[in-house]
Amino acid sequence: MNIGDAGLPRRDVPAAFDAGAAAYDRMVGANPGYHANLRLTARRLRLPGQGRGLRLLDAGCGTGASTAALLTVAPEAEIIAVDASRGMLDAAQAKPWPTSVRFVHAPVEELAEHGITGPFDGILAAYLVRNLANPDSQLRAFRTLLRPGGTLAVHEYSVRDSRAARLVWHAVCWGIIIPAGWWHTRDTTLYRHLWRSVLTFDGAARFRSRLREAGFTAVHSETMPGWEVNVVHTFLGDAPR
Ligand SMILES: C[S@@+](CC[C@H](N)C(=O)[O-])C[C@H]1O[C@@H](n2cnc3c(N)ncnc32)[C@H](O)[C@@H]1O
Repeated sequence: MNIGDAGLPRRDVPAAFDAGAAAYDRMVGANPGYHANLRLTARRLRLPGQGRGLRLLDAGCGTGASTAALLTVAPEAEIIAVDASRGMLDAAQAKPWPTSVRFVHAPVEELAEHGITGPFDGILAAYLVRNLANPDSQLRAFRTLLRPGGTLAVHEYSVRDSRAARLVWHAVCWGIIIPAGWWHTRDTTLYRHLWRSVLTFDGAARFRSRLREAGFTAVHSETMPGWEVNVVHTFLGDAPR
């Protein structure tokens, strides 16, 4: 697979995750804030009543790390978790889950074709949007899947607005992620895609504008603690009431 300046062609991304699936949990487990920061984003959805009676979508659920974060903040909710990579989804489904969690193998661009319809009370897209061929149409699709007043949380790298964050990102990629990816999988494709795709993804201000252009209201973002400060952000927007 050829990596260009912006990373892999987006149609090749799920296959790259198939190749990286077996090592994914060990790779992200080496990042001390990974799971805590996903839970922070899930809390920022401000879901009421432990999620009782709510329907949630985890778009691009991977091996279930973001699904677990949703389950922690909303243990009573129905959660539908979707991913286009069979390998990532198999790793997720191998874990124990309550019956309220359902996994579906589908590209997010084809949810209706796979029987997934709204309304959802909340949608979490963790490290997904940067990997999409057409983020704008997907953001609009997420808006129409939400009930009026429902919230989308996009948990994503965005370093363009901060020189310090870009330097941290280069250092983390070439000092840790790419060597560790080689160690675990003998293939750096996915990790060099990660490096490139983050460098070329929107800055935080541009991504907030994208959310407004897609019709979301109350758009704002907050960053993460620790080394991910100004590197990873929660972007939040509501479907208009
Ligand atoms: C970096 S992983 C994140 C997984 C999980 N959300 C987490 O936080 O650990 C990104 C996931 O998005 C999935 N993905 C990429 N493009 C997709 C698409 N068009 N539709 C559905 N899933 C997609 C990949 O297969 C991969 O599992």
